Amino acid sequence: MKKQILVAGGTGYIGSHTTVELQNNGFEVIIADNLSNSKIEVLDGIEAITGIRPIFEKVDLSVIEETEAFFKKYSKVQAIIHFAANKAVGESVAKPLMYYRNNLNSLMNILEAMKEHKIPNLVFSSSCTVYGQPDKLPVTESTPRKEAESPYGNTKSISEDIIRDTVKAHPELKGIALRYFNPIGAHPSSKIGELPLGVPNNLIPFITQTVAGIRPELSVFGDDYSTPDGSCIRDYINVVDLAKAHVVAIERLLKNKNDSNYEYFNVGTGQGISVLEIIEGFERSTGKKVPHKIVARRPGDVEQIYADTSFANKTLGWKSESSLDDTLLSAWKWQENLK
Ligand code: WQD
Repeated sequence: MKKQILVAGGTGYIGSHTTVELQNNGFEVIIADNLSNSKIEVLDGIEAITGIRPIFEKVDLSVIEETEAFFKKYSKVQAIIHFAANKAVGESVAKPLMYYRNNLNSLMNILEAMKEHKIPNLVFSSSCTVYGQPDKLPVTESTPRKEAESPYGNTKSISEDIIRDTVKAHPELKGIALRYFNPIGAHPSSKIGELPLGVPNNLIPFITQTVAGIRPELSVFGDDYSTPDGSCIRDYINVVDLAKAHVVAIERLLKNKNDSNYEYFNVGTGQGISVLEIIEGFERSTGKKVPHKIVARRPGDVEQIYADTSFANKTLGWKSESSLDDTLLSAWKWQENLK
């Protein structure tokens, strides 16, 4: 009998790639998603890659009645991976109440359901944004969290505290938070990838849409930072490598290998790459020019952040494997496939 995993937000960018890796590893996946920021056709891509169409239920997990009805039907899941949240930094600044209500209510409804239906295991999608602008780089898991630069980032920080306190009060539950750095790229099949609705906020989809002629030019937000080439530095992690980290975390919980019932890990490459280096890498790997101009800094951007991933490498036995060039090429191939 296959172990059943609930992927909340499974038609989203990271959720869909994680569903592929779970199905490739013999798990049965149930996707719950409200389709507010993703398309149902993602299921076709997952099926085309794995030969298996995950069970899908359209549900808004921020609504307690919908969540309770869902878990009445699927009370046998053995673990939950929770991606379902709004994640646009700029939008969260404009609509903080929507972000706090949706992101925190969804998590709390899921935790209540775990208690009621005795579902012990949760993997939570957290973010390096909880570190703010770190004083020392690279960041380790003991780097102090700082005031997040947006309500979105703050919901991630608060969510970690909610999980930490809930599993402390209910030791039959256990959770792992994965602090993502910058997820980029697409599945090598080009059948699933990042599907930003509207004008992309994030760098890579903006680059691929510019090269595809959808956007006239990329604006580089500042080249006057105290970095080698003046542009911001981030830790860009391949989305398939990131998805594999979720499978490892689920297996750790299912096999009770966790050292405590609340653990958190940095999930990045350990390498800091600047915006201008991303542009160079994209042009090198695709042979396409990226029309761009330098403009003013974007408010809220941290100057540089990248991970020390040794804790995840050692404790989870996981490390990112993809090269930057292959990852950037996968993003371009996905964009071309969208035509
Ligand atoms: C990356 C770099 C920009 C667009 C966000 C979220 C974070 C996480 C990852 C979910 C920055 C520069 C960007 C553009 C640019 N999301 N840039 N021109 O802001 O590091 O992180 O996505 O977990 O929580 O905050 O990602 O891709 O927006 O920016 O110059 O058109 O690219 O200034 O230096 P960010 P990003």
